[in-house]
Amino acid sequence: MKINKIYSYYFSPSGTTRKITEELNKSFNLPIDTCDLLKNPLHEDIHISSNDLCIISLPVYMGRIPSICIDMVNKIKSNKSLAIGVVVYGNREYEDALVELTDLLTNNNFTIVGAGAFIAQHSIFPSVGNGRPDDSDLKLIKSFGENCNKIIESLNNDAFSRLEINIKGNRPYRSTKPIPLKPKSKNTCNNCGLCYKICPTNSILKDSPKEINKDTCISCGACISNCPSNSKYFGGIMYKIAKVKFEKSNSVYKIPEVFYIC
Ligand SMILES: Cc1cc2nc3c(=O)[nH]c(=O)nc-3n(C[C@H](O)[C@H](O)[C@H](O)COP(=O)(O)O)c2cc1C
Ligand code: SF4
Ligand code: SF4
Repeated sequence: MKINKIYSYYFSPSGTTRKITEELNKSFNLPIDTCDLLKNPLHEDIHISSNDLCIISLPVYMGRIPSICIDMVNKIKSNKSLAIGVVVYGNREYEDALVELTDLLTNNNFTIVGAGAFIAQHSIFPSVGNGRPDDSDLKLIKSFGENCNKIIESLNNDAFSRLEINIKGNRPYRSTKPIPLKPKSKNTCNNCGLCYKICPTNSILKDSPKEINKDTCISCGACISNCPSNSKYFGGIMYKIAKVKFEKSNSVYKIPEVFYIC
């Protein structure tokens, strides 16, 4: 099957999902339309044609995809189009995130060619998965893209319905609750307002950006990674205690997992 164009969507508050998506996109020698869902959230439906490929990459939050992304993924409409689903997790587990993402895409009429769970530095506890994706991850991402490419080339339009992809994960998906750790602000904050503009949940006050609405903040870390004066951070006693425990249980190097249609 011949693909004309790739539409690549990612949500990446602390930048690692973007890095992995950009590496994956390089495996396809095709025109690519890339959309950063944090900076340009989807408000309208997007229609992907039958000869285009859609790549969607999301971070894992509590073993699920971020709930804030569900409506946006549902706005991406398929016309019997192919898709690749990617989740990026911080070396703990990805649990039901990949199956949740690919279920959404399948329910929206996409045929999933390949799906992958890749590892990155944890955005709340960066000592876990530190330095990832590393060179070995980047090689695996490249070969995942190349394999998806080969599969697409070999696909015959009429044969889709006989093919299947089995993704690791449970249904019903695990339940989640909000993470109690929220960013704090330092006095170095110069009120530039960038964090207010980038926060995907409008949890930062325009006139007082040092303050965060803890009830709506999803701990995504976008305000931390985008602050030009490094004035936002995860810290405090509760954070330090959680960090020690978290590092202890999640120090073993995890390997990316990939799945293909067959
Ligand atoms: C609220 C929240 C929940 C997370 N839950 C998980 C998790 O369940 N498993 C895991 O391994 N990493 C988890 N992480 C780490 C992220 O999945 C990981 O850092 C990811 O690479 C972040 O993507 P980004 O850099 O594109 O923002 C979580 C991070 C956040 C902010
Ligand atoms: S981005 Fe940083 S410096 Fe700018 S308002 Fe937010 S915390 Fe302050
Ligand atoms: S305030 Fe919370 S939701 Fe908003 S960018 Fe910062 S961590 Fe993300």
